[in-house]
Amino acid sequence: MAKDSLSVTDNRTGKSYELPVSEGTIRAMDLRQIKVADDDFGLMTYDPAFMNTASCRSAITFIDGDKGILRYRGYPIEQLAEKCSFLEVAYLLFEGELPTKPQLEAWEEKVRYHTYVHTNLIKFLEGYRYDAHPMGMLLGAVGALSTFYPDAKHIGDKANRYLQRVRLISKLPTIAAFAFRHSRGLPFVFPRNDLGYIGNFVNMTFEIGGKLEPNAVLQRALEILFILHADHEQNCSTSAVRAVGSSDVDPFSAVSAGIAALYGPLHGGANEAVLRMLDEIGTKADVPGFIDKVKSGHGERLMGFGHRVYKSYDPRAKLIKKVAYDVFEQTGLNPKLEIALELERIALEDDYFIKRKLYPNVDFYSGLIYKAMGYPTDYFTVLFALGRLPGWVAQWEEMLLDKEQKIARPRQIYVGAEERNFVPLVARG
Ligand code: CMC
Repeated sequence: MAKDSLSVTDNRTGKSYELPVSEGTIRAMDLRQIKVADDDFGLMTYDPAFMNTASCRSAITFIDGDKGILRYRGYPIEQLAEKCSFLEVAYLLFEGELPTKPQLEAWEEKVRYHTYVHTNLIKFLEGYRYDAHPMGMLLGAVGALSTFYPDAKHIGDKANRYLQRVRLISKLPTIAAFAFRHSRGLPFVFPRNDLGYIGNFVNMTFEIGGKLEPNAVLQRALEILFILHADHEQNCSTSAVRAVGSSDVDPFSAVSAGIAALYGPLHGGANEAVLRMLDEIGTKADVPGFIDKVKSGHGERLMGFGHRVYKSYDPRAKLIKKVAYDVFEQTGLNPKLEIALELERIALEDDYFIKRKLYPNVDFYSGLIYKAMGYPTDYFTVLFALGRLPGWVAQWEEMLLDKEQKIARPRQIYVGAEERNFVPLVARG
């Protein structure tokens, strides 16, 4: 009997099967041979929310949730956050290797060249209501980009995929900044090619009357946050990009699906939800009462806590807490920080949270930082999207080039009505 295998006995038939085990995994399709009769479909696995199913093999990001480890292409997140620029990390995610100096300069130049958007896209953005949520604006506008670049449909062409990758990385900050200005009723500020990626984005959001005094500490803090968000293997939004992209649709449509998934409060929308929760709590003295409400199990969650994969700590949260203090040194302390620290202190000592391995995640402190930088609460998830974009695009391309991948199409267990005859409207009572 092969050592790297799993022996399974089907007690319904008494038959035994030997299933190969590779990379700690059995192939779900190997279960199909397990049948009770020739016309039986074969055994399936049932895994709502993909709790224990690998949907792909990936060489991009490694996470060890029990040890709190996160690496992009083998490099620890701590080192990348300390030493890299965001575009350098994006290059690493796409190409698998860190760029040389000339490669980085060429990549930066390419991105700078494509930062403008077609002026019709501006009309499109202007059509949104003044109070439109910026994530709704972003996902609509990115989907609309597919109509501006119909050539993006040629996903089998390597050079074409590269061009769309550059367009996405270049134009998303411009669209995001325009969404910001629209909701404030401010005129759009166009990209400036003499500024770096982060500097240009900050300028497009905050410049007034042709002037903005750049704050290097705040810009670096934003860059670190983008790096920490750049990829996170098969999370909800990345899975959405892969699943939608598996239909061979263009990358703008696939990425807009990722933005839609990120929007939700259980995913990227948690950073916005954390700030709303801190507002709702009110003062430090109200924290124990709020924790009791969460523990009572009536639907209230401690937003910014818990993670499907991290069960000891989220390494990004650790780094973000340090960034928060760098930022507050510049901007002054946010009074909400006191509430957040008290929530963290109580939760980390409380049996409810300890038993369930609930620790602060990436979103717990990021909202406070964005707020201190001057971004409104409903804009936080847009900033997450800007950071996550390289991961989405890298995962989309990896999926396309993976010979084992096909259109994503899960199975179901049908639990509905048996066949029955149609009843005409008049006879339905
Ligand atoms: N507050 C209170 N209880 C919680 C929380 C929380 N934030 N998260 C999980 N639990 C409880 C949950 O009620 C359940 O308890 P029980 O076993 O008694 O039913 C247990 O912990 C396991 O929870 P789960 O919902 O089965 O865990 P999951 O892996 O499906 O959910 C999660 C992961 C992130 C959606 C969840 O922890 C959550 O809702 N957190 C708050 C939202 C949040 O901060 N999301 C950002 C995630 S990190 C950034 C990103 O990648 O988007």
